[in-house]
Amino acid sequence: MNQKTFVLLIAIMAVMLPAALAQVQPVVLTIHVDKPVSKVSPTLYGLMTEEINYSYDGGLYAEMVRNRTFRARRRDVPYWLLVEDGNAQVKMEIDQQTGPSEALNYSLRLEATQADAENQAGVLNGGYWGMPLKPNTIYKGSFYAKADSDALGAVNIELVTDADGQALASTTVSGLTTAWKQYHFSLKTGAIQPSSANHLVLTVKHAGTLWLNLVSLFPPAYLDRDNGNRIDLMQKLAAMHPAFLRFPGGNYLEGDHIPERYEWKKTIGPQVDRPTHPSPWRYNSSDGLGLLEFLEWCEDLKMQPVLAVYGGYSMAQEHVNPGPDLDPYVQDTLDELEYVTGGTETKWGAVRAQNGHPEPFRLTYVEIGNEDFFDRSGSYDGRYAQFYKAIKAKYADLQLIATMPVKSIRPDVIDDHYYRRATEFFRDTAHYDKTDRHGPKIFVGEWATREGSPTPNFGATLGDAAWMTGLERNSDIIVMAAYAPLLVNVNPGGMQWETDLIGYDALRSYGSPSYYAQVMFSTYLGDETLDSKLEGGGPKLFYSVTKDTKKNRLYLKLVNAASTPQSINVKFAGATLANRGKLVMLRAHGTQATNTLEEPTNIVPRESTLRNIGSEFHYTAPAYSIQVIQIDGR
Ligand code: AHR
Repeated sequence: MNQKTFVLLIAIMAVMLPAALAQVQPVVLTIHVDKPVSKVSPTLYGLMTEEINYSYDGGLYAEMVRNRTFRARRRDVPYWLLVEDGNAQVKMEIDQQTGPSEALNYSLRLEATQADAENQAGVLNGGYWGMPLKPNTIYKGSFYAKADSDALGAVNIELVTDADGQALASTTVSGLTTAWKQYHFSLKTGAIQPSSANHLVLTVKHAGTLWLNLVSLFPPAYLDRDNGNRIDLMQKLAAMHPAFLRFPGGNYLEGDHIPERYEWKKTIGPQVDRPTHPSPWRYNSSDGLGLLEFLEWCEDLKMQPVLAVYGGYSMAQEHVNPGPDLDPYVQDTLDELEYVTGGTETKWGAVRAQNGHPEPFRLTYVEIGNEDFFDRSGSYDGRYAQFYKAIKAKYADLQLIATMPVKSIRPDVIDDHYYRRATEFFRDTAHYDKTDRHGPKIFVGEWATREGSPTPNFGATLGDAAWMTGLERNSDIIVMAAYAPLLVNVNPGGMQWETDLIGYDALRSYGSPSYYAQVMFSTYLGDETLDSKLEGGGPKLFYSVTKDTKKNRLYLKLVNAASTPQSINVKFAGATLANRGKLVMLRAHGTQATNTLEEPTNIVPRESTLRNIGSEFHYTAPAYSIQVIQIDGR
């Protein structure tokens, strides 16, 4: 080797060696098992929902009939088509003169000018991208109807396949009169293949006029509730162990315009008394899942309600001035709080009992408005303060969440929202590490890594998991956090916002990789964080270590968002742990990998056993991996 080559070699080594050493230098994570640092909020993980992406209608709310109340667009009645078998003749129009209730004071008028047994006339509904039918299942239906005379005869109801017009279930409803009345029916399928390529048909066999409204059909729902929720989606939500449900929004609470806000009083009681309303996400909401149904959903999944109330701002820069103008809105909220929590001796508690739920609900958190930093008038300070004073005067213990900082009064909790790329979350996992512990508590009421459509890819999941390690570390002040949006109907036109946690069509559903990360983080939560120190490790290695003191169990969550494996020496000080542990692993080979309706289990958590743990063990976190290591104390 000549001198020149030697010098070059030394120069190359001088550059390469530190990097090479960094590669081989072991990363050390020391955990002081006997030194708790802070409390973990037991309500840290929960759900945020609103009517977006067909989350309720065409989603969780199991109603199968789309536009069941015949809300019309100019001369069109969306999602309803005429049926003219053979030489039958029928026309339909919206009749503004007659309807079954004050809320539904109009109807669909069907005039059959020609119809007989072989040539039936009527309408069909294709559901929300299909009518999902399963074998040997009873579907319960109802409608409000009246006829111009007895001569119209019975209404025939059938569930029919799209492909060949075969009736899979049928029944009739007879006895229609010239007065409005609700009729109930049921349809039972036989040994069919599950499919959503079906539609509902209502026909008559005689000429005459039929008026219809609120045509409804339900499959068996979660916990067998009438007017209930889809079983598969409720099961997926239950697996997230959510501590709370924030509802009803989101933008859905505010509406684009003040008259389009969420008016809870129009969402309670019999369905026929609910007028429905336009949502800011560009479709009409049936309000079939109304205030009481939200609360029952909480009851079914043992979540506490986080009730968002309209705070006097709608998204088209419309606001209500604090002061006398706002008083009716504040009173409406006081009525709502009484409906939720009041005894049956109270006015609104009695209404709740009449609606079928005498027991009051427990309520801790109420949120005033949503994202009021968008209100350019700057009126939120005054609006929040007015709500705060009125609510606290009657409900001193309620915790009132503000949607932005407020100066005139100290909010109990502030709701922060983050929609970001994975790299942004990677760089900001320490976001709350230095937050003032004497200020308001934090509710991260909406957050998500927005990569992947309609649901997150694994790159997003890594961003989510990294962010959640920061949430856990700071859950002494972060009382609650929720991914948003939660649900998306993946059919064309179903999604208004990407990226969403759980996808579905009429028949099937799947959890995204991020869904499984949520399940892992909330299942292995713990109640205190432990003193720990990470030495080495690159900018894409994240962790959280907590302990479940009742179970004497440690949870170590490791997120390796890098494209290379990461080996770590984990040292436990201060207490002896079991030699064996459980490893729950979620990983993928690339950031673009994901789950879909067709491939729902590409990326799911896998469990295995870790051996020879002792007071120190060597662990290699695979590239692109999220893992929880559970070890019992001795
Ligand atoms: O989650 C989607 C929307 O994002 C919510 O409705 C709104 O609060 C936020 O801007």
